[in-house]
Amino acid sequence: MASSDSRLTIHMAASLDGFIARKDGRVDWLETADEFAAGATMEPAEVEAFLKTIDCYVMGSRTYETALRFESQGLGWAYGNTPTFVLTTRSLPRTRDSVQFHSGDLARFVNDRLRPAYRTIWFVGGGVLSAECLRLDLADELRYSILPVLIGEGISFFEKLDRDVALHLAEVKAYRNGMVELRYEVPRGRSAR
Ligand SMILES: NC(=O)c1ccc[n+]([C@@H]2O[C@H](COP(=O)([O-])OP(=O)(O)OC[C@H]3O[C@@H](n4cnc5c(N)ncnc54)[C@H](OP(=O)(O)O)[C@@H]3O)[C@@H](O)[C@H]2O)c1
Repeated sequence: MASSDSRLTIHMAASLDGFIARKDGRVDWLETADEFAAGATMEPAEVEAFLKTIDCYVMGSRTYETALRFESQGLGWAYGNTPTFVLTTRSLPRTRDSVQFHSGDLARFVNDRLRPAYRTIWFVGGGVLSAECLRLDLADELRYSILPVLIGEGISFFEKLDRDVALHLAEVKAYRNGMVELRYEVPRGRSAR
């Protein structure tokens, strides 16, 4: 796969007030009970087909620790057998072959290792890693799934972003469960590319 074909997407779900987790890391609020009659539904087969288009996942260590906790609680592993890269400077448990750890320069990792090998690269959080990815001008696309709930305080979608990032709204889709998915393109050609 040619590196020029690759596409880096940041995707997370957030409360309407822009938080991806409570301050203590809990994401219990992700289960909402809303119903929006005119919204779309996605059949399990559609979800499965869509997930197959993702070539690798990248996540921060705290998001990985949440995923491990879910797995230990019997809630499963959301990333299947798709290669999953965890950014960390620590030594963390590895429960499956598809997980690899990396530490260091994120721009070099994305441009020299991920882009030449994977076409569809999904950064799945959390806020620290997403902000680093945007600060370094590495993202092509941003998918923001807004859930119908306000939680008041928590971990922001982007932690400590130090400048404005202008976006192009490419798609808006509302779902039956009250979730709205916004898809933005991140203008290319700034520093670090
Ligand atoms: N709502 C959603 O869709 C969603 C999605 C994802 C996560 N979350 C939630 O968000 C929370 C975690 O987010 P977060 O912002 O606190 O943390 P995070 O972004 O998941 O992880 C940050 C950590 O990743 C490591 N890291 C980042 N960049 C690195 C680099 N270039 N090299 C080496 N290590 C690097 C560092 O940890 P080390 O100390 O290990 O080096 C850093 O402290 C969890 O509660 C999770 O459940 C929610």
